[in-house]
Amino acid sequence: MSAEFKYIHHACFTVTKNGETLICDPFLDGNPQGVRLQDLKVNYIFITHAHGDHLGCAYELAKRTGALIITTAEIANEASSYNCKAHAMHIGGTYTFPFGKVRVTPAFHGSGIAGGHACGFIIDFHGTKFYFAGDTSLFGDMALLPKLDPFDYALLPIGGNFTMDPKDAALAAGMLGAKVVIPIHYNTWPVIAQDPEAFKKDVEAHTQSKVCIVKPGEGMTWD
Ligand code: NI
Ligand code: MN
Repeated sequence: MSAEFKYIHHACFTVTKNGETLICDPFLDGNPQGVRLQDLKVNYIFITHAHGDHLGCAYELAKRTGALIITTAEIANEASSYNCKAHAMHIGGTYTFPFGKVRVTPAFHGSGIAGGHACGFIIDFHGTKFYFAGDTSLFGDMALLPKLDPFDYALLPIGGNFTMDPKDAALAAGMLGAKVVIPIHYNTWPVIAQDPEAFKKDVEAHTQSKVCIVKPGEGMTWD
């Protein structure tokens, strides 16, 4: 069974499989397809940190759809205070949901919320396994992640300025060893303008991974 990946823009995407949809970092402002909150039917909302370009419309979306928010404890607590359903996790933690296992991974970045920490996720969604790095710098312990919970797809920020740039993300790709790498979190604003084709060439020349450049509003099928 394959999964449908849809890239909304920036760090926001959905994955649909077995009649369920998850969304990551639901920031919709300025997305080129004009996807609106009201257009989304989701079951799970993953939030890596509370900066506006990641938290986005998460609480409103959760209330409207009844979706379960899966995130760090600080954000989950805030979500609960808005009467959203939330499952609190934290870095290094794993939990098996009805759809599969989730691991919360470190991310070196601000949390956007008092006392919190930014994170990434390794998600097994009905058997489709992927790593969503969130906003992060390069860090050497990325090499451990595929040993802990293997995944086939990796979504990596390449925008620079706030996160890894293409060079750093190419090193990350080498450590992660995913079958497919999808660059995200670039070209949303001039400060994170990057050339994904150069990233693709670099990664494919130096690692076993294939890079799929998915444009905002487009998608691909994941095996
Ligand atoms: Ni951020
Ligand atoms: Mn960001």
